[in-house]
Amino acid sequence: MKNFYLTTPIYYVNDKPHIGHAYTSLAADCLARFKRLDNQKVFFSTGTDEHGQKVEESAIKKNQSLKDFTNSVSQEFKRLSDLLNLTNSDFIRTTEQRHISKVRNIWTKLIDKEQIYLGSYKGWYSVRDEAFISETDIKTDNKNNKIGPSNDILKWVEEPSYFFRLSDWQEKLLDFYKHNQDFILPKSRYNEVVKFVQGGLEDLSISRTSFNWGISVPRNDKHVIYVWLDALCNYLSVLDENNKQFWPADIHIVGKDILRFHAVYWPAFLLAADIDLPKKIFAHGWWTIDGEKMSKSKGNVIDPYKLVKKYNPDLIRYFLLREIPFGQDGNFSESLLIRRINSELSNGYGNLVQRVLAMIFKYFNGKVPKLDNMNDKDKQFLAMPSKSLDKIRKLMDALQFHAAIEEILVIIRASNLYVDNSEPWVLAKKDIARLSTVLSLLINLIYKVNILLQPFIPSSSEKVFEQLYQQNNIGFERINNDLIVEKPIKKPYIIFPRIV
Ligand code: MSP
Repeated sequence: MKNFYLTTPIYYVNDKPHIGHAYTSLAADCLARFKRLDNQKVFFSTGTDEHGQKVEESAIKKNQSLKDFTNSVSQEFKRLSDLLNLTNSDFIRTTEQRHISKVRNIWTKLIDKEQIYLGSYKGWYSVRDEAFISETDIKTDNKNNKIGPSNDILKWVEEPSYFFRLSDWQEKLLDFYKHNQDFILPKSRYNEVVKFVQGGLEDLSISRTSFNWGISVPRNDKHVIYVWLDALCNYLSVLDENNKQFWPADIHIVGKDILRFHAVYWPAFLLAADIDLPKKIFAHGWWTIDGEKMSKSKGNVIDPYKLVKKYNPDLIRYFLLREIPFGQDGNFSESLLIRRINSELSNGYGNLVQRVLAMIFKYFNGKVPKLDNMNDKDKQFLAMPSKSLDKIRKLMDALQFHAAIEEILVIIRASNLYVDNSEPWVLAKKDIARLSTVLSLLINLIYKVNILLQPFIPSSSEKVFEQLYQQNNIGFERINNDLIVEKPIKKPYIIFPRIV
């Protein structure tokens, strides 16, 4: 069995989760489920990023101890994972001992390889991005404040600092990108990263002394390790002795805002520490609300808990993955969600399942009818899901969830049309043998389509299997099997009620 290791970023605990966090996690979960059904051994990691100035400032603002504050927000992220039906293999917190030891271990490795030196840092720092900002990315507002790329007021930092010899890795990184054109996806992001690195890399400040909330530097506890070096190591620290073989990761899924850390700093750290590089990094786009960035001050933050309470989590997963090609930005609105669900799931798939099962109840006592005498067209039709699987595999490897779903919808649309054109209610009066073939073909198509739909609507597809008295989690290798003739099915009920 092939191993497949995929990761989400670990989420900052400075604030509670919003729909943007749910998005990265749902995409990763969909891919994890797909690979498992495709007979791969999957390790899927997620977790929380709990150190750094941003988290420290938030805890102080809330008047809570760092321990209580990080425990409670991290718990919120765990709760969200449960609510969204995530199948992560582990949940790593950067405040855990297993993580802290791994980070120290990597620091020591970098010291041994003479990749770190002590100097002093002078420059502007963005707490929001937890990043040093170079002069070219700084604007000034009308009060003469220095403003960073994420529109926060920058802080002047002047302190002793350890540096990582990032400048040494510029040529090696460029060479690596050149020979691994799929390392960064989509292609436009690859080009951006290459351009950035070609512009020159300066050594990177990787420790801070003006606050305490972090992992202290081995043998110099006046310094805490830079939060990004700390956080990136989670992808290694989450793998214990039994799971070491999952490294290198097959894919890190990240938002476009944190691509540079993953596609430049992380590979440089790994190269310097003589550790294999991950195989792929995919940067997805951002959700906006009515065209605007989500922000607390604008009061337009979408709360995933409220959304999950109102709609089944499958519907949110389906909408987020279907609406926008992964990699592009998109606008979130509930009316778009409702429109999408009603047309594709209620009127499309739900309607198909409901009418086919109801007719099998009416005409065949709720038992799978015989599939005899299929003509060539019928045979081709029945083979559609299996043929689509090859295309879907390729689309999933490119993380094109919306297009993978479209492949499945093509079969659903064709099936609904087939019902209309073959007029089972007319056949019932004159040709029971043909009626049996038509309805059997359709229920078998539903079974196969449902196998393909599992990663996209996991709890709803389970309900469909239940109606067919099938167990859940049916692997793709079974897509060529047909249902057993005469096997009873359950009386159908509506799985995707129309949202009004
Ligand atoms: N802690 C770092 C990641 C460290 S990984 C070693 C971090 N955390 S975060 O909580 O700010 O963001 C986590 C993820 O959520 C990022 O991939 C980010 O792109 C994603 N999103 C945050 N807001 C988003 C939207 N509005 N839309 C889509 N995704 C967004 O960065």
